[in-house]
Amino acid sequence: MGICQVRLLPSFLNTAGKHELSDLIRYLFEEAPEDELSELFAFAVELNRENYGGRVFFRGLIEFSSFCKNDCYYCGIGRSNVNAVRYRLSEEQILDCCRKGYALGFRSFVLQSGEDGYYTDDAACRIVSGIKELFPDCAVTLSIGERSYDSYRMFFDAGADRYLLRHETADEAHYSSLHPPGQTLKKRKLCLYKLKEIGYQVGAGFMVGSPYQTCETLAEDMIFLRGLQPHMAGIGPFIPHSDTRFAGFSSPPSKMTLILLSLTRCLLPKVLMPATTALATADKRGRAKGLSAGANVVMPCLTPRDRRRDYSLYDNKLCTGGEAAEGLSDLRRQIEELGLKPDLSRGDHADFTDRAEMADTPAFSGAEQKRSNDYGKHE
Ligand code: 5AD
Repeated sequence: MGICQVRLLPSFLNTAGKHELSDLIRYLFEEAPEDELSELFAFAVELNRENYGGRVFFRGLIEFSSFCKNDCYYCGIGRSNVNAVRYRLSEEQILDCCRKGYALGFRSFVLQSGEDGYYTDDAACRIVSGIKELFPDCAVTLSIGERSYDSYRMFFDAGADRYLLRHETADEAHYSSLHPPGQTLKKRKLCLYKLKEIGYQVGAGFMVGSPYQTCETLAEDMIFLRGLQPHMAGIGPFIPHSDTRFAGFSSPPSKMTLILLSLTRCLLPKVLMPATTALATADKRGRAKGLSAGANVVMPCLTPRDRRRDYSLYDNKLCTGGEAAEGLSDLRRQIEELGLKPDLSRGDHADFTDRAEMADTPAFSGAEQKRSNDYGKHE
């Protein structure tokens, strides 16, 4: 590729067809020499420096329910796993997690759960508005799966700023090999487009090395991201869970995830992208490697300690050290050692920061900001 070619990647990725993209991915996986990959990763870090001053944003992750009505074949908390330990946090317990996170310095909370109907739309709204009342200076991200347009709209009006919903794979046949018949790629994509239309900062994403994935399906992931233009992208390695039908599959070499992280950074230079817990679990230096390949978010866990083990998406999921909110100071140090800047602020996407800053001024409250977004849509 050479140094000149690395710089051409953003425009290549923005125009290439499926065939060219899959060839590039295959080349990077199978043939590219170490020094070329290092150059690619360094370029991805440079793009984060240009767009975010080399900042790494912190999100406090609250895994508030391990109940799930779905049965994704790869996931340890699918409804048919009778060995999974199920728990739910009460609204007050969720607020307590935020209180603890706020005291530690977090200003961005991610509420994640299985698809759990126990939390009705009203309950979810109460949780969001409860957090916003206590901590108006914090961003709230929901990651609770597929719901209707009206539900998404209600959560947004209650104050939710962002929504994470990985598309998992943008290839129809691959999607069907990872999910039972009721779950479709079409529905998943529709949800993502609805969320965007409502005005959320939206996160999509996929696993690397999931069963039956190919360079072609990964090329489709790139093309899907290019069309959706998400504000966030969650990309981490597949890790088998022993109670699932994919127990016998293996996790990919970290290199593959790092390549996809850096390509995604080149495609979407302003994207917010975590060095995932899965990457840190699969490789003990995974977090550092991810941050050195263009990731710019970390998501330490604020889930109550006695529940962390039960949110078991895959085997041996880390919930200690840098993956735990209690390990904050070590994590900050690790980020600084990489020459990056730990940042505990809300950490909005670059296209949203102006609006977020305006919301801080008394003349332009959060509610007004939301309304002005709505008007903007019809201009
Ligand atoms: N390995 C890696 N990631 C997984 N997820 C679920 N199961 C696994 C697994 N076995 C990811 C999915 C989901 C996110 C919450 O966790 O991509 O969207």
